[in-house]
Amino acid sequence: MPGGEIRVTVEPAGVTLTCLPDETMMQCATRHGMHWPTICRGAAQCSACRFEILEGEENFADEPPAEQALFRAVARVGASGNRVRFGCCAQPTGRATVLCRRARFLTEDKPAA
Ligand code: FES
Repeated sequence: MPGGEIRVTVEPAGVTLTCLPDETMMQCATRHGMHWPTICRGAAQCSACRFEILEGEENFADEPPAEQALFRAVARVGASGNRVRFGCCAQPTGRATVLCRRARFLTEDKPAA
């Protein structure tokens, strides 16, 4: 954990999550009670979990083979020019801000920052 705590802000929800080492973005969000979009339930098959990195691209682990396979069908850069990663594969390692429009809390409950 080079930068201390692994804290990722998810926009536009506007919530900052504290992730555990070796946890994927989706696992971290789910552990905090947040819905992260998925069809394949984290099996690296659907690409629904994709998100863009707004800040801290360097604070994600390298793409595992399953994520590299997903990029055969999905561009590595989003329409706004930001780096794309997949929530069921990408492991944050430090401070970052990501954009995932369909990630949200199913209730109004948000974890304390
Ligand atoms: S949840 Fe389906 S590819 Fe990530």
